[in-house]
Amino acid sequence: MPRTCPTFFSFPADAPAQSAEAAAVISGLMSEAPSVSPKYLYGPLGSRLFDAITELPEYYPTRTERGLLEACRDSVARAAGPAPTLIDLGAGNCEKARSLFDALKPGQYVAVDISVDFLRHTLSQLQRDFPELEMLGIGADFSSGLRLPDAVRRDNRLFFYPGSSIGNFTPEQALTFLAGIRAQCAGAYGGGLLIGVDLIKPATLLQAAYDDALGVTAAFNLNLLNNLNALIGSNFAMGDWRHVALFNASASRIEMHLEARRDIEVRWPGGARSFRQGQRIHTENSYKYALADFKSLLTQAGFGRIQAWTDANDWFALCHATL
Ligand code: AVJ
Repeated sequence: MPRTCPTFFSFPADAPAQSAEAAAVISGLMSEAPSVSPKYLYGPLGSRLFDAITELPEYYPTRTERGLLEACRDSVARAAGPAPTLIDLGAGNCEKARSLFDALKPGQYVAVDISVDFLRHTLSQLQRDFPELEMLGIGADFSSGLRLPDAVRRDNRLFFYPGSSIGNFTPEQALTFLAGIRAQCAGAYGGGLLIGVDLIKPATLLQAAYDDALGVTAAFNLNLLNNLNALIGSNFAMGDWRHVALFNASASRIEMHLEARRDIEVRWPGGARSFRQGQRIHTENSYKYALADFKSLLTQAGFGRIQAWTDANDWFALCHATL
């Protein structure tokens, strides 16, 4: 029976959770080394800016991973077995998962994303193109653990975590997250994980990917201040801040910061903070791995068989891990 509309679950923060979120953001801002979670980069505008980033000549991950998905999909399909439950973590525009449908022939497609309205839009579009495929949309922030509703099938689960979003976690947090996914794999075929990871490469290439000439990444980073203004009622002015991206080699991560262009006082209901010129708010980490280290992380998380695909430059890897 053709479907016209995906089933949608949304877990918006309830009022107490929302004020707890606001309190957490404020405490991050007030800290001696100010920081804000990268989840506040996303929203109706942020998700579109991120889509634009993936088209930039400097941003190699998306197009490199696209090639790897093509290379791996038949062996992943063989390993996954018939009608896998494809669970797309951070689905965004759903393009990557869509590229797997023909090979995988999923029995159910579950798209999870923090940017609820964006997901609702892309998923209804997708359902129109694939009317026979059962689709579930889940609007949720899974950065502190993934809880799936009962409507998500348990058999032959294939978790799909592309784009190297795992890089937003510290390696310790990544291990916890991966072990959590491992615990939700089940079924006759054991379930599995298909995950993209960005590899260590010369700092100049990394830096360019996170500080592009057009300034799209700068806009993406600065737009976080719009989201904070909406969440806590602050009066951040975009023009007072500068985008900074740097490769921290000892921690093996790209860091994004917003740097005050002058001395600034930011106010919000019930509080304020002054920033000196040059002072920074840390907005994102994007960890880069050596492939061997990432494979051992998967092993530590409880996965048994691991297969990896890399591009000719060894810039990016796609790993398929099963129990
Ligand atoms: C979506 C987390 C994978 O780290 O490359 C892109 C986000 N930040 N440009 C990444 C991002 C700046 C992206 N991830």
